[in-house]
Amino acid sequence: MDRLLLLRVALLLILGRGVRGYSDKTVEIVELVVPESPKVGEDVTLTCRFHLVGSNHRLYTVNWWRGKDQFYTYKGTAHTNPKHAYTFSGIDVKEEASTEESVLLQNVSEETSGLFKCEVMGEGPSFRTAVANKTMIVVIPPSQVQILLRPSSNPPVYHIGERIHMNCTAKGAKPRAVLYWEINNTPVNERDVQPRAGYEDHRGRVTSTLSLSWDPPAYFKDNEARVACHALVGEHRTTSTKDIYLDPASSAALNHLYASAGCKLSAAWTLLGLVSLLLNRRLL
Ligand SMILES: *[C@@H]1O[C@H](CO)[C@@H](O)[C@H](O)[C@H]1NC(C)=O
Ligand SMILES: *[C@@H]1O[C@H](CO)[C@@H](O)[C@H](O)[C@H]1NC(C)=O
Ligand SMILES: *[C@@H]1O[C@H](CO)[C@@H](O)[C@H](O)[C@H]1NC(C)=O
Repeated sequence: MDRLLLLRVALLLILGRGVRGYSDKTVEIVELVVPESPKVGEDVTLTCRFHLVGSNHRLYTVNWWRGKDQFYTYKGTAHTNPKHAYTFSGIDVKEEASTEESVLLQNVSEETSGLFKCEVMGEGPSFRTAVANKTMIVVIPPSQVQILLRPSSNPPVYHIGERIHMNCTAKGAKPRAVLYWEINNTPVNERDVQPRAGYEDHRGRVTSTLSLSWDPPAYFKDNEARVACHALVGEHRTTSTKDIYLDPASSAALNHLYASAGCKLSAAWTLLGLVSLLLNRRLL
């Protein structure tokens, strides 16, 4: 980009030698940085990098808009007070942290969302101008991401022959959270996943649920599985995890045997394979 620009400047200088006028003066916006999906409550920096091309080409103004609201002006010709900020719903500029190239918006909210435009104008009499725009949508991550298990026990210990059911629910996200499951850091098979109907409240915040069910010992490693549910809103991820265990020695049938032998399995018993090993020995 910079090399190209230099080349263009060089060309203009060669071609334009001896030619008087403003044709050698242009304004270029090199980069406009507007975060696509910041989180509600964050401070956001908008950046508009520009080049004023041409000899003695000086800045007249930089203006920023959200839709039709002009919320910030930087005057290149002013020697005192070059910055002016204007307040709109959802727009609160921190003037002392803003410059000719950037604006700091404090504590963004849903109302902040919109099309952001930067306009850079060179000095008169030609007033060469460049504009660029980008959309920003402020997102609300879920207030809670929760995993529910069935059957449930504490600690959660499962047996061969017993199907495991889980629901992951993300509450109150805007826009709707994208949910996905991982077990031991590996994505689960799509076959084991089922989306559930969600609902949207009057403020447009969505609660959604994704189910997961499978037959052990699938996904277990060394009789343990770390189940994670991720909720993505924009680039923000909220994760909930649960550690679950498999009792390898005790199939559902064996369990039944215990029960009929009057030897109730307590949760603590079932936690460790070692313990079940001991139990087995006692049975024999
Ligand atoms: C941020 O804005 C919200 C309203 O949008 C307000 O309730 C909250 O107090 C503000 N927080 C700060 C730190 O200014
Ligand atoms: C925003 O920029 C795009 C090019 O990136 C342009 O096509 C569009 O007309 C601009 N919109 C406004 C409202 O300025
Ligand atoms: C998961 O959600 C579905 C539908 O909302 C429900 O029928 C099922 O019982 C739930 N399962 C668990 C493990 O909570």
